[in-house]
Amino acid sequence: MRILLNIVCLIVAALVSSAARAQEPVRWRGGAQAAAIERRIDRLIASMTLEEKVGQLHLYGRREGFDYAEIRAGRVGNVMNFVDPVEMAAVQKAARESRLKIPLLIGLDAVHGVSTYFPLPLGQAATFNPGLAEEAALWTAREARALGINWTFAPMVDMGRDPRWGRLLEGAGEDVHLSNVMAAARTRGYQAGGVAATAKHFVGYGGGEGGRDYNTAWIPVEQLHDLHLPPFRASLDAGSLSVMASFNSVNGVPATAHKGMLSDLLRGSWRFRGLVVSDFGSIPELIKHGIARDEPEAARKALAAGIDIDMMGFVYARHLAAEVRAGRVPMVQVEAAVRRVLRVKFHAGMDRMADIDPKTAEVALQSQAARDAARRNARESIILLDNNGILPLRAAQAKRVLVVGALARADQERVWTDPAGVPRRPIEGLDAALQRLLGPVSDVFFQPGVTSYCGLELAQRAAVIEAAAAADVIVAKLGEDCEFMGEGASRTRLTLPGVQDALLEDLIASGKPVVLVLATGRPLVLTHLKGRLAALVQTFHAGSEGRAAIAEVLTGAFNPSGKTPMSFPRSVGQIPVYYDHLPTGRPETRIRQRYESIYIDEANQPLYPFGFGLSYTDFGFSDLAVDVAGAGREAVISVSVTLANRGARDGQEVVQLYVRQPQASISRPVRQLKAFDKIMLKAGETRRVTLVVKASDLGYHDAQGGHVVEPGRFDVFVGNSALADLKGDFVLARRPSRAGQAGALR
Ligand code: NOJ
Repeated sequence: MRILLNIVCLIVAALVSSAARAQEPVRWRGGAQAAAIERRIDRLIASMTLEEKVGQLHLYGRREGFDYAEIRAGRVGNVMNFVDPVEMAAVQKAARESRLKIPLLIGLDAVHGVSTYFPLPLGQAATFNPGLAEEAALWTAREARALGINWTFAPMVDMGRDPRWGRLLEGAGEDVHLSNVMAAARTRGYQAGGVAATAKHFVGYGGGEGGRDYNTAWIPVEQLHDLHLPPFRASLDAGSLSVMASFNSVNGVPATAHKGMLSDLLRGSWRFRGLVVSDFGSIPELIKHGIARDEPEAARKALAAGIDIDMMGFVYARHLAAEVRAGRVPMVQVEAAVRRVLRVKFHAGMDRMADIDPKTAEVALQSQAARDAARRNARESIILLDNNGILPLRAAQAKRVLVVGALARADQERVWTDPAGVPRRPIEGLDAALQRLLGPVSDVFFQPGVTSYCGLELAQRAAVIEAAAAADVIVAKLGEDCEFMGEGASRTRLTLPGVQDALLEDLIASGKPVVLVLATGRPLVLTHLKGRLAALVQTFHAGSEGRAAIAEVLTGAFNPSGKTPMSFPRSVGQIPVYYDHLPTGRPETRIRQRYESIYIDEANQPLYPFGFGLSYTDFGFSDLAVDVAGAGREAVISVSVTLANRGARDGQEVVQLYVRQPQASISRPVRQLKAFDKIMLKAGETRRVTLVVKASDLGYHDAQGGHVVEPGRFDVFVGNSALADLKGDFVLARRPSRAGQAGALR
């Protein structure tokens, strides 16, 4: 008996210790540890063959017939897209059997989940709650790590200013402050969960002309520094160990060969010590970009610019050794890249990572704790855009509820990548979730309306119309799915794909109140629906717990608090329509007349502004006070307001602080979000809320990339969207300098 007990204790201890090891956070080590790592790298590099060095710079993706002997031979130092535990164990074993036993980087796009799915990152941004985004990344990393993955190609921290760009669903939308906050939170979460993060895509991927994926970006230096670079900086400051270069060219230079960005700025000015990986096959694409004649030249240019790892381009693996032997690539360049790769591996503790046991690897997936985190995240990601009072649905009035839309019952919510074979639980249908919450007084019935969740063909139109006639209220779940969003899915028409608009018209024509729940990857143009729906609810595919969370919002079990992370255009022709634009010399007036900066056929304002989202309660802002402590760029500005929940329900509100500098040496944006806080208030409760901004965050970059904070007057606006109208101001004094010079504070 005692022996048995001991064995059980040993097994439990082993499980606990391997679980604890699996969650060892990834972080930069300092002091003596960092120095010891460098010495270890010195010794290793001294003992490596040229082929083994090149192997560390090669990233190979899973394929049928993958040859594990390549890993054993040291020719493959990094792999990606392995998730099957049996294959993963074989990969890890092969690395252990290699001559130098250097651990592999094992990468995956674990963007918003692996087995338990969270809302798309754009939806996570809509929570305006960085704690939830951090938690999502933490659980995503834990599940990834349980499968043996130690490196993720996330977070994407590119700015999403153009809703035509399908990729923006992976980022935090149009605002740089929100993007910074989310970039840092997600980075922290991934690395706390034991997976090295990758800030991507460096830099300007979101600035592609016309919103077309992979397209050229022309970005003035000032804007590069004010807008596109800060989220990378935020991710690196939060400890990100790696960076991925972007596919496109920026100001004429392909990012994959952009020495100015990768070496001078990232490694030089920013002192980034981690690794840079190319995007998928982007090194040989330098030939198509027209800056390399052949693969060897592409390899030389990418390495010289600062790309350490070639993701699936195979040009380092094919050509680097020969290039070194021919004297065209200096060995020191190869070794510097190898050092950075090894540094990441050792700082991240990949050499201490236990091999997975294929029999138990999946035990850690879909834990209740992960699902709870996904539910919390999904709830707060839901944005209530319009409500004529029908929501929340009450069982007494909503006796017969028709749920329409194949998406309401799709097996899964849309996921960014779908690693084949990772177990996932079936997701409760929206109709079932509503029935559960409304109880037996209501009868919830379902019609798909379209033949598949791609929404390309109507299904049983007559039955839908008949069901609509029999309903008290219609809940339609429609949106973008299939090939309509994500990488390579830029669009020029921001409509509901396929026949979904026709389906919606049938529903509206029934005369019954229609609650439209959207699941999209971007803001769509919804102008034609304004005023014709009973309620409009926006989600950005809310993940494994999304439909349950939507049902909670529709029935009032949860009071919505999501806010738009992007402006919703009235028409595609308005794009770009971001809120933090510059003023013009001929601003729009109330009369709206010719020779003002307006469209003659459309308003200037978006349909829904940035930062907007309704609640079932009513919040009021009052008594704004501004306090400035100190002077110059070290000053700290505290803005206080009284937030009152004037309604009858408890709820959360996002207090948003916008700042404008009305006169400066250059034209400054009409307003910019500088701080926000999500506050929970009980019905009738009032609270004083203080948001703090550092004066150094009020500056801008000049054409040389230098940072300037100009003293003078600033306006502040506080409220619950970019239209915030509670106004105050303050003066930022110049810090007295010995020279007594006036002017900008650099
Ligand atoms: C291409 C994407 O741009 C990148 O973000 C991703 O990590 C790789 N494919 C690998 O899937």
